[in-house]
Amino acid sequence: MTELKHLAIIMDGNGRWAQARGHNRLFGHVRGAKVARQIIEAAAERKVPFLTLYTFSQENWQRPATEVKFLMKLLGRQLKKELRTLMDNNIKFRVIGEIEKLPAEILKIVQHTIETTKDNDGMTLVFALSYGSRQEIRSAAQKIARQVQGGHINIADIDENMISACLESAFLPDPDLVIRTSGESRLSNFYLWQAAYSELFITNTLWPDFTVTDLDEALTIFSGTERRFGRIPEGMDAPAT
Ligand code: FPP
Repeated sequence: MTELKHLAIIMDGNGRWAQARGHNRLFGHVRGAKVARQIIEAAAERKVPFLTLYTFSQENWQRPATEVKFLMKLLGRQLKKELRTLMDNNIKFRVIGEIEKLPAEILKIVQHTIETTKDNDGMTLVFALSYGSRQEIRSAAQKIARQVQGGHINIADIDENMISACLESAFLPDPDLVIRTSGESRLSNFYLWQAAYSELFITNTLWPDFTVTDLDEALTIFSGTERRFGRIPEGMDAPAT
């Protein structure tokens, strides 16, 4: 059995789900938020230590202003509404991303949720909010460059661990499994560094149709996966010639 510490989910397909039913795209986000709540609770029950939900990307800021405004409102409303659920389930809430770009009143709710849940020691739930992996890597590069410039480290000291430690996600283990809904097989600027060895589970199911059964299917497939991190299976070393 392969142990899963960190599950990351790219929740995609809300807009298509709504449009396929003759509704406005925003209706899909409302449904998507309900599904997010169910999956968060299910993951906590299944003792997943870390769960990241890709909730709002840097690129999402370029969507029509009405959709952005709606998503921000939905986020604020959902966090307020679910604070009790987070506390009842002993979930610690964290965020990664350029959250200073969020509207002030939403940022306040985000910070209040982080603060209120900070002593919970069950699952850590991370919202990637206003998040872009390239931007995160660029910031890490700048941090390291400043250390070199200040004479605190040498260029030769820079290794993978140092880069990981300078990322915003430094408090998280790398994701073991990345689930993406709605059939697209790409990472969309999400955990580009961290997902180097992640297993990928791509399902055609649109996020609003994603169920706890789908989650369990992904977890079951993952638990039977042998993770080799580029190495060969044990006992299969080539005989000496
Ligand atoms: C992708 O659907 C989803 C998002 C842009 C953001 C995810 C947001 C939610 C699930 C709702 C809010 C969640 C919480 C937890 C408050 P899409 O619009 O890209 O769908 P499409 O690819 O069909 O257009």
